[in-house]
Amino acid sequence: MFKRWTIRQRILITFLAIVLTGGVLQLIIAGRQLQLATLEFYQHHLETDGLMLASTLSESLEHYLDGEGTESLQRLLGNLQQDTNHNYLIIDHNYRVVGYTAGSGYESIDRVPPTPELAAAAGGQIGADIRAGYDGEEYLFVAVPVMYERETRGYLVLSRPMQPAYTEIYQQWLELGSTTLPVIILVIIAGLWLSSTISRPVQQLRNSALKMAKGELDTRIESDAQDEVGQLARTFNYMAEQIEHLLKTQRSFVSNAAHELRTPLMTLKLRVEALQDETLPAAERAAYLAELREEIDHMAGLVSSLLVLARIDEGRHRQNSTVTDTTSALHDIARHWRIEARDAGLDFEAEIPADLPELPLAPNDLRLVLDNLLGNAIKYTPQGKIYFIVEQKPGELLMQVGDSGVGFHPTQAEQLFTRFYRADEARVQFEGNGLGLSIVQSILDQYGGSVNAQSAGLGQGAIFTLRIPVVAEMVTP
Ligand SMILES: Nc1ncnc2c1ncn2[C@@H]1O[C@H](COP(=O)(O)OP(=O)(O)O)[C@@H](O)[C@H]1O
Ligand SMILES: [Mg+2]
Repeated sequence: MFKRWTIRQRILITFLAIVLTGGVLQLIIAGRQLQLATLEFYQHHLETDGLMLASTLSESLEHYLDGEGTESLQRLLGNLQQDTNHNYLIIDHNYRVVGYTAGSGYESIDRVPPTPELAAAAGGQIGADIRAGYDGEEYLFVAVPVMYERETRGYLVLSRPMQPAYTEIYQQWLELGSTTLPVIILVIIAGLWLSSTISRPVQQLRNSALKMAKGELDTRIESDAQDEVGQLARTFNYMAEQIEHLLKTQRSFVSNAAHELRTPLMTLKLRVEALQDETLPAAERAAYLAELREEIDHMAGLVSSLLVLARIDEGRHRQNSTVTDTTSALHDIARHWRIEARDAGLDFEAEIPADLPELPLAPNDLRLVLDNLLGNAIKYTPQGKIYFIVEQKPGELLMQVGDSGVGFHPTQAEQLFTRFYRADEARVQFEGNGLGLSIVQSILDQYGGSVNAQSAGLGQGAIFTLRIPVVAEMVTP
């Protein structure tokens, strides 16, 4: 059930539930204390009045009971009536009525019943009781013994209606309640605010994700919050950036590939059209055919490079085989390129140590990587020398492919590995598609290896350094 609620609703309801139960409990406790205090005060007030009056009464009552007339008692009763607004009743110790406030219901009563407050007073205490009075309303009755010379001669019963006390208590409850109301309103506002600070950014996140899904890749969330939600927003932005970058590269990759294929295709078309002319001299025909072949080779190379990259991108390229006899594998490769170098009129120097450890990459990949680098070295070196140096380092094999060729601007060192990137100088003078180095890097990436390029500048030659982690050697006992 809770799953159906929004975060906002959950926060609000939790907030309200806590505050309301807490508030109501407090209200009840405070209210009851107040109510008790009010009632006690009400009763206490009547009791002190009763005690005071009882002491002033004692002599007059004694005289009256001794049959010395009612004069002084009458006077006192008259005063009583004026001073207080309580009802009073005076009885002797046999509960026979002696005097009372006119109209308080004792006109036809000679002797009063032993009510609870009288029972307590008979025991020498101050008795109190709340019950319906003669008129059906609730009254508080307080009974005090009237003593003369340490003897109980009678009782004074004071009573007053409870209504004023109840009104006061009701008023107090009302006041308490009305102070709670603003607190509850404040809590609701705070809850709304809190929930919206959480749910608004989440909502934003959702909207941004939807926008991205619809193709608006530059969508970002603006948030400078340092809390969890802010972190989430920043992570989202980072993800969006990565995706945007990835898609951009992917798109430019496709358009670059199409572009690279279009130029040779145009050449092919033109040459084929020319060849359709039957009057074309044999020499030109042979030249065009040679050109056709070259373009087709170029396109085939491009297509196979694209296929390798596509396989790497899809994660289908990596194989689990290893180069077991590394030394001889490297010698094979060097042998091949020594011949190529010689054919190009270049010196070739190779240093390959014996007993090299096993390498954790497929033999084909090792060949592909080195063919690319050595092929580049020969291609970009019109004259001079090529060298290929292998060194065993702790945990890795270091290989350097260097040349004394055209080199490149040191600032371009990293860009060279970007797909389709070719330095301007290379573009003008040398054939190529700009995919070789990116293939080298992608392959090494897969095996935890790395490659970097160095050149002191144009015309200063270039050095490509490879690092390939070696297979951890088994410890033989
Ligand atoms: N040995 C090198 N000397 C100078 N520049 C090089 C060398 N190898 C690569 N480069 C530069 O790096 C670019 C990318 O190389 P690569 O990806 O192999 O593409 P391609 O060889 O088809 O041009 C080249 O166009 C060239 O500018
Ligand atoms: Mg190349």
